Amino acid sequence: MNDIILPGDDQGALFARDRSWQPPAYTPGYKSTTFRAPRHALLSLPGTASELTGPTFGDMPLNPLDNDLIRNYSQDGGEAIGQRLIVYGQVLDENARPVPGTLVEFWQANAGGRYRHKREGYLAPLDPNFGGCGRAITDANGFYHFRTVKPGAYPWPNGANDWRPAHIHFSIFGHAFAQRLITQMYFEGDPMIWQCPIVGSVPDKAGITQLIAKLDRHNTTPMDALAYRFDIVLRGRRSTLFENKLEGN
Ligand SMILES: [Fe+2]
Repeated sequence: MNDIILPGDDQGALFARDRSWQPPAYTPGYKSTTFRAPRHALLSLPGTASELTGPTFGDMPLNPLDNDLIRNYSQDGGEAIGQRLIVYGQVLDENARPVPGTLVEFWQANAGGRYRHKREGYLAPLDPNFGGCGRAITDANGFYHFRTVKPGAYPWPNGANDWRPAHIHFSIFGHAFAQRLITQMYFEGDPMIWQCPIVGSVPDKAGITQLIAKLDRHNTTPMDALAYRFDIVLRGRRSTLFENKLEGN
């Protein structure tokens, strides 16, 4: 039996990165890019066999609370303070096929806009029952979901008075470690989105819209939590490397 996968067959071909869609590395309005953006032309390295066909995460056992940020850091049996949310969505490849068994990780500030991180400098208090990290593995149809509280906006040292809109950071592994994507999710209707220098580094408004989760009243838990849907599109199953420009902010 011949099990070699050729580009263009049912497993999907290589997709070239669309650099007009992704944010450029150098965006002076987002100050730190001025000293970390590459100063030389990028080199294109072919993916190795292990990168393209390496391990996935379908058999990795997760803790039952890994996708429950309301309870997974509880110190006293209580729950995190804040607007309770369900965040869910589908991970798809560029051919709109679900990506099952892939690891989705998420991290965020607490309801006051404060991260649980040793280098965090914002004066908003920590919530003793909120850690701010979780993970999930997509099901057979590519869906992930988790419970959390809505993160607060927070100020950051960029311009004189810049604030990040409420957001959740995401990491998604495709079918191999080399396919890791890091991005940020925003909340529908938030006016702060359009004032953010990091969001402003995305050249196409449609690209920004794709980062905004939609309020989904049909999947709320009555008297408990609102729901937001955030779908994520990866490039083809045998994609070249993603770049991760928005990490850590
Ligand atoms: Fe952040």
